[in-house]
Amino acid sequence: MVAAVRVHKTGGPEVLTFEDVAIPAPGQGQIKIKQHACGVNFIDCYFRNGSYPAPSMPFIAGNESAGEVIAVGPGVTDFKVGDRVAYVGPLGGYAAERVFAADRAVKLPDNISYEQAAGMMLKGMTVQYLVNRTYKVGKGTICLIHAAAGGVGLIACQWANYLGATVIGTVGSKDKAELAKKNGAHHTILYRDEDFVAKVKEITSGKLCDVVYDGIGKDTFPASLDCLRPLGYFVSFGSASGQIAAFNINLLQAKGSLFATRPTLNHYGAKRDDLVSMANDLFKVVGSGAVKIPVNQTYPLKDAAKSHIDLESRKTTGSSILIP
Ligand SMILES: NC(=O)c1ccc[n+]([C@@H]2O[C@H](COP(=O)([O-])OP(=O)(O)OC[C@H]3O[C@@H](n4cnc5c(N)ncnc54)[C@H](OP(=O)(O)O)[C@@H]3O)[C@@H](O)[C@H]2O)c1
Repeated sequence: MVAAVRVHKTGGPEVLTFEDVAIPAPGQGQIKIKQHACGVNFIDCYFRNGSYPAPSMPFIAGNESAGEVIAVGPGVTDFKVGDRVAYVGPLGGYAAERVFAADRAVKLPDNISYEQAAGMMLKGMTVQYLVNRTYKVGKGTICLIHAAAGGVGLIACQWANYLGATVIGTVGSKDKAELAKKNGAHHTILYRDEDFVAKVKEITSGKLCDVVYDGIGKDTFPASLDCLRPLGYFVSFGSASGQIAAFNINLLQAKGSLFATRPTLNHYGAKRDDLVSMANDLFKVVGSGAVKIPVNQTYPLKDAAKSHIDLESRKTTGSSILIP
């Protein structure tokens, strides 16, 4: 039996239950991982509270971890016992051990710690596709990144800056503004106090943005569309404040023939080749020091509920991890 955090019925952070579970031996194509660090992500809250339906009940929360292989199942040729690995994948992350599909795991380079990996696989591969594929950020791009001091936000500010963009970040406090600036944001906007559309107009001298990366959802819609130049890209990749209500697609025409997309890592990383190349790209920018992974909150696994309370009450910055 090993320690894990399970959800028996959906609800608030209090439904995260620390208990012992039995982990089976790895089956065909699976590896067993002794997990050294587990990532905490907003998606974990969506599963916990039921806004994303879990495939079964009870379930072990969490979608991201890093650790070492302690057993390999039949048919696994790419991994051996002792390999350092990391993954983003189906529920089961918040546990001291788990079995996992070998073809969804990646080997961890020696220069990336387990803690860094748990703080970056989901958020960092998300940023990888957002700035390289959903909209190709480059020299001269002007982008708006909401929640710039958050987990995805701090990585996105650094990576977009590294690619040559002018980065405007919205943040919930002055401390968060400082942090976003230290991590690549050229301009910050206190969107709880200031009209962020007016500020974007002022900062860009009326040119507006090529792309808006919006993980906030309800509270920043439709204002995010007003931050875009004609033919700009609205990238709605999350809904920390709640989901955007259905809207008439003619709104995109009225606001300047805009493009709108609602992407998810699951689709961008569905093919093994894409997963490996996204992970390698992330390892490269982190390994070179171009992008740093600020793991600003570390909790023992038993305090998973506290990690969710802090994340949902906007107390955290950068990444949060759990240590089994
Ligand atoms: N589509 C994908 O592939 C994908 C992958 C990973 C993450 N995501 C999404 O990316 C977003 C960020 O995820 P994360 O894990 O890195 O979280 P995070 O940004 O560290 O935390 C969320 C932040 O959103 C801001 N926020 C604004 N309104 C909020 C509200 N009503 N409740 C809570 N927070 C609010 C807060 O920052 P301020 O205080 O600065 O406002 C808060 O710190 C989430 O929407 C998540 O679902 C999407």
